[in-house]
Order: sequence, then structure tokens, then C-alpha cells
Amino acid sequence: MALAEFSPCSYSRSQTLTSNLSSARSIAIDVHLFHRPRFSLRLRRQLNISCSVAPSQIQLPPPTVRPADAANKRECYGVFCTTYDLREDDKTKSWKSLISIAVSGAAGMISNHLLFKLASGEVFGPDQPISLRLLGSERSYQALEGVAMELEDSLYPLLREVSIGVNPYDIFEDAEWALLNGAKPRGPGMERAGLLDINGQIFAEQGKALNAVASRTVKVIVVGNPCNTNALICLKNAPNIPAKNFHALTRLDENRAKCQLALKAGVFYDKVSNVTIWGNHSTTQVPDFLNAKINGIPVKEVITDTKWLEQEFTERVQKRGGVLIQKWGRSSAASTAVSIVDGIRSLVTPTPEGDWFSSGVYTNENPYGIAEDIVFSMPCRSKGDGDYELVKNVEIDDFLRERLKKTEAELLAEKRCVAHLTGEGNAFCDLPEDTMLPGEL
Ligand code: LMR
Repeated sequence: MALAEFSPCSYSRSQTLTSNLSSARSIAIDVHLFHRPRFSLRLRRQLNISCSVAPSQIQLPPPTVRPADAANKRECYGVFCTTYDLREDDKTKSWKSLISIAVSGAAGMISNHLLFKLASGEVFGPDQPISLRLLGSERSYQALEGVAMELEDSLYPLLREVSIGVNPYDIFEDAEWALLNGAKPRGPGMERAGLLDINGQIFAEQGKALNAVASRTVKVIVVGNPCNTNALICLKNAPNIPAKNFHALTRLDENRAKCQLALKAGVFYDKVSNVTIWGNHSTTQVPDFLNAKINGIPVKEVITDTKWLEQEFTERVQKRGGVLIQKWGRSSAASTAVSIVDGIRSLVTPTPEGDWFSSGVYTNENPYGIAEDIVFSMPCRSKGDGDYELVKNVEIDDFLRERLKKTEAELLAEKRCVAHLTGEGNAFCDLPEDTMLPGEL
């Protein structure tokens, strides 16, 4: 995954003039004074999403203000600098109004798969035009331009705007989705506490930027590891955005678990449902075979080899990311991008009756007795409006409970280790030594 870097930017400004067209829609005229002048008309969608976690329920870090040196540096790219009149398109196509999607680590491998899926329409649908805001680092700037060039050459009809930049305060402006892929991988000799600190600082900064400039209903999916704790840091630094809007990606683990269960049972993986990943995206994660189903039948009735379920299956899922790194020489990228798409789709389409999906979410008022105020993967359902609710009646037996305690303890230790980044005092790192990120074998 790419390292997101931040540096002060100084040489361009942007101004947004907004005039109301009707109560439901408005046209925003963006006049960007970059190297290339850009005048674009775009329609903004009014999202109406309710959230159950009030900002007042979380302890606030120091107030976030937009740093004075955080000047705008987002540049429209190539053909996307041309004037488009989306009102004309609206007359001929029954499209929804434009949504803005910010992607960090945009020059990295995950994004290289993800961006083209977003642009093709396979994520938000064939009637949803999108604006892509690509966040990279000074070091990756040329690669960002390369990504933008490939997006240009792909002639995606739904892709109306592409802009690139290194300043999250600019890239996240009005973003309705923020897909945070950029993070530093753990290098040789680096302690886990060091990784938590380096990446935590990135996510604290991005949380502040989201808080300052993103849409108040922005949905944030944190992919960069350690994603649960990065998501916690991010939401703590964004007190004006509901904590419920932040997710840590554990969908990849759910997909991996479904694949292993299908393999063992000799069925195609679309027959596997109700799989929860509980807890941290690390080797303490708990793939739940107690509640999972194959062809609608409890997995334990289909796969009667309990030893396999408790040991081999569980470990395979927990360590899949690491085994993959050994094969590939790098982290999973394509399957991670697919799982981000699955995660978004699960929020914007109604969950099939009786099923659920896994996501790392803020734990306040959870029905499972998981410690409050951490980001923990749990079973969720959505009505398809971008919001979700926790599934409340999932069975937990002694075996499952014991493992939940271990992954919970790890997350609480990670939280203590980043207290300086969440506004909760001095950090104290007592991370368990026998646990790892999936990629750390
Ligand atoms: C994965 O699960 O494949 C990744 O999170 C591994 C990693 O550490 O990048």
C-alpha cells in the first residue's frame, strides 16, 4: 500500500460559487485557478442519511481547524478539465446527480484496481456519474498522473471529473465517500507500536481534513492497516461526522472465510451466507462458523469436522493475507479492491433477507457486550441508504466468546497505544506479542 505523505502546498486556490436551482438540487460552479483554468458545472445530490451515534457520544480531541498552510492543490486532470454541462446530459439520460469519491493511496496497487471499478459503474450503478479525487504523496505524484491518464484513456461515460493532489484538505472537499487505502507497510525492524504511530498520524490528519471539508454525510472506509485502529483515530479526529459513518475493511476476511468454507464443503462460494468476521483485521480476528450457513443450513451440520473448523479454517482465514504476501511478494491488491466494492455495495443496496455482512464499526451501544469506543468487526445489515444497523440476535457460544475476548483485548491495547492521537492523553503500548497483522507472517 502506498504511503500517504503530507506537505504544505502554496500555489493555487479554488472557489466554489453555489446557486440554488430548486429545493432538491443545486448547481455548483467550480472555478479552479490552477495551472489550467477549469470551469465545470455539476449537480450535487442531497443525501439524507440518519445515524444513531451522536457526535456528543464520543470524547473529542482538540478542535480541528484547517491549517493556514493547507492551500488547495487539487488539479483537474487532462480531459476532465474540459467543461461539461451535466444538465444537458440529464435531459437525455436519467442519471442521478454527481457524487464525489475521494481515494487515498491512489497511486497504489489497491487503488489501481479499485478506481477502474468505480469509474465503470459496477459499484454505484450505471446511472450514477462520479467525480474521483485522487490523493497521493509528493513522491507518487507522477504515478498519480499516470493513473489519471489511464482513466482518461478508458473513456468511461460515468466518470465526469478526475482531480489529483497531495493535500487531503483539498481532495476531501465535499467528498461523499472516502476510501482510505494509503498507509505505510511495516518495514524490517519496525515495531508494531511504531507502525501504529506512523499510520495513526496519517489517519489523524485525514480525520481532521474530513472533519473540516467533507460532506457531513461522508462514508469512510479505512483500508490502510492496522485498519480498525486507524478508523478509530480517524473518527476521533472528525467529531463533526457521525462515528457510525466510519468503517474498517474486514470484508476481505469475510470473502476469504466464505471461500474456505465452500472449498471444504465442495460447493460454489455463492452458497455460503451469514459469515461474520468479528473483531480486528489481524490474526486475532474471529471467522464465525457457528452462525454461518451453506445452502441455508448451519455450517456445523454441513461440515462436521469440528477440529477443522476450530483450528484449520480459523487459522487459514486469519493468516491468508500473510500467505498471500509470501506467494506474491506483496500485499493482496485485486481481492482487496473487490472487497471494498463489496463493502460499498452492501451499504448502498438492501441486504438480502436473513443475511448480513461484516464491517469494522464503532462499538457504542453494541448488543454483544463488546467494549465500547473501539472499532470492531460485527454483523451488519443495510436498507441500502448508505447506513447500517447491527444484527442483534447472532448466537455466541463459549468458544466464540473466548476468541472475541482475545481480539477485543488486542484492540483495547492498540487503542491505549494511540491515545496521543485520539485526544485521550498519553499513549501506553502493551501490545500482545503473539498477534500480527494478516500480512506479518
Ligand atoms: C491482507 O489482509 O491481505 C492485508 O491486510 C495484508 C497486509 O498486511 O497488507
